[in-house]
Amino acid sequence: MSKTAVLEIEGKKYEFPLEVGSEKELAIDIKQLRGATNGVTTIDPGFKNTGSCKSAITFLDGEQGILRYRGYAIEDLAEKASFLEVSYLLIFGELPTKVQLDKFEQDIKDQSLVDEDVHKILDAFPKNAHPMGVLSSLTSALTAFNPKSVEYSSADDMYKAIVMLMGKFPVLVSWCMRKMKGLPLDFGDVDLGYEENFAMMMFKRPNKQYKASKVVLDALDKLLILHADHEQNCSTSTVRIVGSSHAGLFASISAGISALWGPLHGGANQAVIEMLEAIKNDGGDYEKYIAKAKDKNDPFRLMGFGHRVYKNFDPRAKIIKVAAEQVLNDLGIEDPVLDVAKGLSDVALNDEYFKSRNLYPNVDFYSGIIYRALGIPVEMFTVLFAMGRLPGWIAQWKEMRENKEPIGRPRQLYVGEPLRPYVSIENR
Ligand code: ACO
Repeated sequence: MSKTAVLEIEGKKYEFPLEVGSEKELAIDIKQLRGATNGVTTIDPGFKNTGSCKSAITFLDGEQGILRYRGYAIEDLAEKASFLEVSYLLIFGELPTKVQLDKFEQDIKDQSLVDEDVHKILDAFPKNAHPMGVLSSLTSALTAFNPKSVEYSSADDMYKAIVMLMGKFPVLVSWCMRKMKGLPLDFGDVDLGYEENFAMMMFKRPNKQYKASKVVLDALDKLLILHADHEQNCSTSTVRIVGSSHAGLFASISAGISALWGPLHGGANQAVIEMLEAIKNDGGDYEKYIAKAKDKNDPFRLMGFGHRVYKNFDPRAKIIKVAAEQVLNDLGIEDPVLDVAKGLSDVALNDEYFKSRNLYPNVDFYSGIIYRALGIPVEMFTVLFAMGRLPGWIAQWKEMRENKEPIGRPRQLYVGEPLRPYVSIENR
């Protein structure tokens, strides 16, 4: 029996189909709402209840703290897979065979050279420019250097744009950091593996050989995998909506980077470490900061706490907390900020304000501690998030194009002035 939902508006009943997802989630299909009701729309600021698409990429259940990519549990992937395997899984739907993975990696390497003129654009930015703004600009600039990558008349064109971006993006990410640190740019070494090459481009000094240790590679892999996709979040929705106008892949991803930059989204990882530092320097008084976060007259929020979807726990935070302790241990680093983080979260998790609002540590709460241990400057944290999220954005953009989704164009409820006559400037 097909399921329906009945809506009554001003005494008249309308029936709408109920769609059932593969995890038995229900959604009311309101595609016919305006037509059937003569113009009635819905209002849902922040899209808290609105599904913008059907997607087969990522499943998450915020109540139970479940996150799966293409049906695989995040815990399994973080433990057993490489970032490139996960990228392939997200973008093409299945875990790759060895042959498929090798080809994907080789195709990416073949496209990884960044035009020397992009370097000139980077040079024009001030050294203290925020790297998220720089990364967004350079990613957008890739279109100018590869104009053919905008038209997708075949699956081959799309594949080429994807491997091009997967190849050039780590170079741009590392350039953002090298510029900040005053290090000469590095074009990488395609004889190295994807993650190894990325680590080398990030950390190699011009006067010293560099070989990434297993600890560094494992930590990077885990962090990138945990950030790789998160269904229709703010930046991913941005990528899909920009791409829905048939702007190219690079322009769409550039917009996603800008969306991720904000402190309520990916920018929270930078904000968390700055907050933890401030608490440490202020004598480590957790209670004071918990009180500030609860005070509605104080704009302070406990950064790295709370999530739009997870109302139980963020499964990524659980994995990252353990990984942070492991990395500090393996690298022999003692970071007092980890103690501040643990102390703060212990107090918050037992506080009625946070408990009653289901506010738990999110992915960003511990990730910065790992980035810091790896020697990554705080301004680069969100850039690393973008590096991890890249395959997710690509997968979501590709799905949107392949499903031939219409251009994204929400409605509104107009609450402004009704028609009024123009008043000339001398009479105002
Ligand atoms: N500190 C203090 N209070 C909080 C916090 C916080 N971090 N987060 C939410 N609250 C409170 C709100 O004040 C609100 O209280 P009220 O019901 O008394 O008005 C209630 O909890 C619900 O909060 P909303 O802002 O309505 O929740 P929403 O789902 O819109 O926001 C968000 C989620 C943006 C993540 C929010 O929790 C937040 O600002 N957290 C801090 C920033 C952060 O860590 N962002 C990273 C998110 S993960 C990511 O993007 C990768």
